[in-house]
Amino acid sequence: MVKPYLYVTRKLPEEIIRPFRRQFDIQMWLYEEKPINREALERETKHADAILTMLSDQIDRSLLEQAENLKIIANLAVGYDNIDLSAAKDRGITVSNTPDVLTETTADLTFALLMATARRIVEAARFIEQGSWNNWAPFLMAGKDVHHKTLGIVGMGRIGEALARRARGFSMDVLYHNRSRHLQAEESLGVHYAEFESLLEQADYVVCLAPLTEETKHMFDKEAFSRMKKSAFFINASRGKNVDEKALYHALINEEIAGAGLDVFEDEPIDSSHPLLALQQVTCLPHIGSATIETRNRMIELCLENIALVLSGKKAKTLVI
Ligand code: DGY
Repeated sequence: MVKPYLYVTRKLPEEIIRPFRRQFDIQMWLYEEKPINREALERETKHADAILTMLSDQIDRSLLEQAENLKIIANLAVGYDNIDLSAAKDRGITVSNTPDVLTETTADLTFALLMATARRIVEAARFIEQGSWNNWAPFLMAGKDVHHKTLGIVGMGRIGEALARRARGFSMDVLYHNRSRHLQAEESLGVHYAEFESLLEQADYVVCLAPLTEETKHMFDKEAFSRMKKSAFFINASRGKNVDEKALYHALINEEIAGAGLDVFEDEPIDSSHPLLALQQVTCLPHIGSATIETRNRMIELCLENIALVLSGKKAKTLVI
C-alpha cells in the first residue's frame, strides 16, 4: 500500500519524526535554520497529503489552489496568521495549530522579557562585556520595579492567563482587555477587565498577547502609545504586525513611554540595522516565545499526531478549521 506523503518544511529532529515513518512517506526540507524557498514549497505542496509548516511559511491561496491531495496543514505555532484560512476552507483542507503545549513556556518568556526590560538585564550584561564596569554606583543600571505595579494584558487567552498567574505571584495588579470577558480568570486570579484605552492609561506594563487579525493589526499605533504613561513599558510577545513600529519608535525617542521589550517584529527577521536596536531602552529577542527544547519537541509531536488523525479520517486534536 502506498503511504500518504507528508512534507515537513524544516529539518526537524529525526528521533521525533522516526516513529511516524511507519505510517507516512516523510520528506523534510534540508535545513533547520534556513526557510524553505517558494519553489520547493510549491513543488511539495502540489502532491503532498499533509504539510507540517512553520510560522515563517506563507501558505496562501495560490499555493493551495495547486495542492491536489492536501488534507491537512499542521502549523508549528499557536498563531496561524501565515495561513489563508478561507482558501484552506474552500478546498476542504484542515488546519491545525499547537496551543496548550506552549502556554507556560511562552508565558515564562513573556515575563522574563518584561523583567529584563524593566531591570535592564541585557543592557547591564553588555555593559560588563564592553569593559565599562569600573565602579559600583548607587544608580548604576538602575531600572524600574515590577512587583506591586500594574500589568495590562491585551489578549487574554491561555498565555495571557498564564502570564497573569505569574504577575500575581509578584503582587502585581492585573488588568486585561479582550474581545470577551474572562469571568473565570477574574474570579480565580483577581484580574480586572478594562477597555483598551483605560488599560493603556493605567498600566505600568502593557503586554500584547493578541493574535494577529484584521482587527488587531496596528492596534498599537501613535494614538495608543500616546495614551500610555510616560513611565510605562510596552512588551510584545504575540505578533509584530499588531504594532505600528514607526509609531513605537517615535514614542520611544520622544520619551512618551519608558521602554519596550519585543520578541516579535513587523517584518521578521530584522537585521542589525533595525532602528529599534539602537535604543538602549529596548530589549529585542528573535521570536523565541515557545523556544525551549521540551516545548518545541512537544509542538512537533502534536503536529504529527494531528496529521495522523486527519489522514485516518478523524478530527485533529487542536483544530483551527
Ligand atoms: C506561536 O506559536 O505562534 C509563537 O509565536 C511561537 O513562538
